[in-house]
Amino acid sequence: MKSKDYRNKYNRHLIHPWSDFSFLGKDDSSTVIVKGDGVYIYDAEGNKLLDGPAGMWCMQTGYGRKEIADAVATQIMELGYACSFSVINNKEVELAERIAAHTPGDLNRIFFTTGGSTAVDSALRLCQLANNIKGQSYRKHIITRDKAYHGSTFLAASVTGKERDKSAMDTIQDSIHFLTAPCYFYHSEFASEEEFCDFLVEELESKIQEIGPENIMCFIAEPILASGGVIVPPKGYNYRCWQIVKKYDITYIADEVVTGFGRLGHWFSSEDEFGVIPDIIIFAKGVTSGYIPLGGYAVSDKLLEGFIGENADGCTYLNGYTWSGNPVACAAGLASWDIIEKEGLLEHVKEIAPYFQQQLRTLKDIALVGDVRGAGLMAAVEMTSTADNEADLLEKDFVVGEMVDAYCQQFGLVVRPFINICIISPPLIITKPQIDELVGILRKGLELTLADLRGQGVCVN
Ligand SMILES: Cc1ncc(COP(=O)(O)O)c(C=O)c1O
Repeated sequence: MKSKDYRNKYNRHLIHPWSDFSFLGKDDSSTVIVKGDGVYIYDAEGNKLLDGPAGMWCMQTGYGRKEIADAVATQIMELGYACSFSVINNKEVELAERIAAHTPGDLNRIFFTTGGSTAVDSALRLCQLANNIKGQSYRKHIITRDKAYHGSTFLAASVTGKERDKSAMDTIQDSIHFLTAPCYFYHSEFASEEEFCDFLVEELESKIQEIGPENIMCFIAEPILASGGVIVPPKGYNYRCWQIVKKYDITYIADEVVTGFGRLGHWFSSEDEFGVIPDIIIFAKGVTSGYIPLGGYAVSDKLLEGFIGENADGCTYLNGYTWSGNPVACAAGLASWDIIEKEGLLEHVKEIAPYFQQQLRTLKDIALVGDVRGAGLMAAVEMTSTADNEADLLEKDFVVGEMVDAYCQQFGLVVRPFINICIISPPLIITKPQIDELVGILRKGLELTLADLRGQGVCVN
């Protein structure tokens, strides 16, 4: 079947995440993919495309991994399902033990979910339970940041700080507090990144004092804000925020859904990259290399201590999913883990990331490019366009993003922009020649888009 035929059926029967309902059922251009191999995906016509975002930051070991396929097939035949509400299965135990061995501090206990949103939700609900048991049910306030993305369940969406994601649907308002996104690129009013960092840390402390530390349930933060535009905070920011949060005895949750499982060259980046030992770490995506849905959190023994055993006061953690600790998903996680270890992918990321970052930064000479930023194997190329007001700017930014993506796809690269930002986070197995291919195509896409915009009389610098 051709792409056109799939699209017709898609238009009739499917709703995709973040669908613009003005165009529901009217998609005549989205790429239809039918196959993947290594860092490449293939459309229904057989066209080969380098997968710039690795699916959605998740295909760590790349496509077509026989080891994962075999592990999953074997597991399905051995034990295709186990209900974690009532029994223990061998694979969840094995995977939990491995994860716990690689988390910082005393984060020794794992709760498995079906993905990142449900992991965030579950962690926040754990904090609620903790406070309720401890007689601190007034501790309801959550501090998060603008441009953070934590998922799309009601609670996870409520702590998400992306402007667009809040525009048309309900979220919890009264107990969620948003701090400035730690992106220096947007804050040229500060003389230096250090000065900006001082401002951010002071803002956090003032917010804590304003709410009253005793009323705060937690601070939740991605070490690098991923979907918000790969925002790498100023040096020392994560560490200093953690110090402040702990000074006031508030729970620190690190959302490592993107930064975990090798994207920055570590199993988890909190301590190894930023010197932070959170109370809870959220993970998902790369844990199975994206092959099977799985997520979860790791929680510290110290945090749990206060409300388990005799302290539990007869309360139950009324939270879980049909597929919590699913043995097939965990088998995929173990197989992906084995590949990362066997092929030295954490070391590979550490070695190749400087080249990746440096090559992408060469794109800064294109007038359409406002900023290139990133760390490890995650980066953002942010395009600038001009307009008189916010609404026009957003509209133009969407168009620019789509133009770049369309050109790149013509030449064999998927960039899938978030509005005006190309997110590049390839599978961890990417090689130097493949990075050259990626950057070369992106350059062509950006230059052609710039020429089109100039042709249309749209002013770009
Ligand atoms: C940092 C972060 N947290 C949570 C999520 C939500 O994960 P999921 O889409 O698996 O529910 C995402 C997804 O992109 C994410 O980037």
